[in-house]
Amino acid sequence: MTDTQTGSTEPDVVDILTADHRDMLELIGQIEGAADAERRRDLADTVTAEIMRHAVAEEMFVYPAVEEHVPNGADEVEHDKREHDEIVDLLKQLEGVDASEPRFMELVRELEGQLRHHASDEETDQFPVLRTHIPREQLVALAAKVENAKKVAPTRPHPHAPHSELFHKTIGPGVGMVDRLRDRLTGRSTG
Ligand SMILES: [Fe+2]
Ligand SMILES: [Fe+2]
Repeated sequence: MTDTQTGSTEPDVVDILTADHRDMLELIGQIEGAADAERRRDLADTVTAEIMRHAVAEEMFVYPAVEEHVPNGADEVEHDKREHDEIVDLLKQLEGVDASEPRFMELVRELEGQLRHHASDEETDQFPVLRTHIPREQLVALAAKVENAKKVAPTRPHPHAPHSELFHKTIGPGVGMVDRLRDRLTGRSTG
């Protein structure tokens, strides 16, 4: 978003997260269009890593801001985290299904539906309120924190990992390192 006073075009946290949502849905579209199972598996691993990084970064830095600044923020965050859990659960199921089985595409479509719903909740209800209530410098600073968190966040689904900020800031990076090691050893392209 362009700041009207300074003319700055530096992305704020809402720009980053909205672009993430678009990228995820674009990857899902690619899975749906992929002819061979190996390519579908590859894309599914990539989108899984993208979603995990995004969700963890949101929980670490964005949802605390929602709780603080958005009316009924605590309730909204609880609802959002529940949806993250459902998404992580789907990702876990997807990890265990062969990409040549019909079940694989069923799960991909279910995931697409959940992602669309969740992204539209955030983009329509929460992000505009953040921009109204938080000064732009803070939103830009949050963008940097989110980008950094994404670098160390887990890349694989861990359905029973606690959601607390403390967990993500202390144990989370360790889990992320182990995930990345496994990604490299198994040749996953998760970035
Ligand atoms: Fe979210
Ligand atoms: Fe999001």
